[in-house]
Amino acid sequence: MAITGGVSVIGAGTMGNGIAHVFAQAGFKVTIVDVSLSQLDRAVATIKKNLDRQVAKASITEEKKTTTLSNITTQTNMIEGVKNAGLVVEAATENIELKLQIFEELDKYAPKETILATNTSSISITKIAAVTGRAGKVIGMHFMNPVPVMKLVEIINGYATSKEVTATIVELSKQLGKVPCVVNDYPGFIANRILMPMINEAIYSLYESVAGVEEIDTVMKLGMAHPMGPLQLADFIGLDVCLSILHVLHDGFGNPKYAPCPLLVNMVAAGKLGVKSGEGFYTYRAGSKELVVSEGFK
Ligand code: CAA
Repeated sequence: MAITGGVSVIGAGTMGNGIAHVFAQAGFKVTIVDVSLSQLDRAVATIKKNLDRQVAKASITEEKKTTTLSNITTQTNMIEGVKNAGLVVEAATENIELKLQIFEELDKYAPKETILATNTSSISITKIAAVTGRAGKVIGMHFMNPVPVMKLVEIINGYATSKEVTATIVELSKQLGKVPCVVNDYPGFIANRILMPMINEAIYSLYESVAGVEEIDTVMKLGMAHPMGPLQLADFIGLDVCLSILHVLHDGFGNPKYAPCPLLVNMVAAGKLGVKSGEGFYTYRAGSKELVVSEGFK
């Protein structure tokens, strides 16, 4: 089953602009929908900057950049933004009430045959699908950050997702140059069920003074060939996002092994959220690529 119509991406944040970027680069007509005009402008500016980088590295041509940008339009009105969509990919803030409200609206305003995908990192696809009248056409399409670089799309089958819809999304992910991996809908799916306990254990190791920030990250970078250590990766993902995923795992399985480390809880309460707030385990200065351990952990 091929999708008929364009692709609408709901939410113009980091994941939304990355998802719009890869669909547009693969030749799809993309509409980015967000309530904030300034956020939409920022998203297009970021896509342009990332395309410039790809041109500078000769991974795409100047002409490809121009056609990619010409495939993207923006929209602040949800009804207009999804009325011609064959596929909607929701990439709004990771908040269940917000996502349920968005999916109720999508079900009302998108054509009946449109597939509704969510980029949620841990919220139940089955719960999201249940607020629509088309649960068979609701699926998880979990991209990794930075979307233009990371090859994986974790595809999550909700309880009612039809086989035909899964096959369509698998094919579509391949057309984006990604590698799809189909999993079932249980807390954290696969990516975060495995990643978040590792990050939490790294934070516990710091909390219990087993080692410092740099030592923990160096062990995992050089010992396990991870591109970033777990603490740097937590900063990159956002400590608030890590905490909320750990809550989903803890609540969903009822197993104390997923309890978030008190240090993570405190850092989030103090507004130390990682890269996006300028400070987490490391301190981030605009324009600098140097990794500097935050004062409190020196
Ligand atoms: N758009 C386009 N290209 C980008 C980019 C972006 N936003 N960011 C980086 N790149 C490209 C660079 O141009 C460069 O390309 P070449 O290899 O062709 O030269 C390449 O990516 C590497 O970038 P850099 O040299 O600037 O930096 P780096 O080597 O330190 O790599 C990184 C940066 C790709 C982010 C790497 O550190 C990495 O892979 N980190 C781990 C990322 C990860 O684990 N992501 C998953 C997070 S979990 C998640 O997203 C899901 C969840 O639910 C929490």
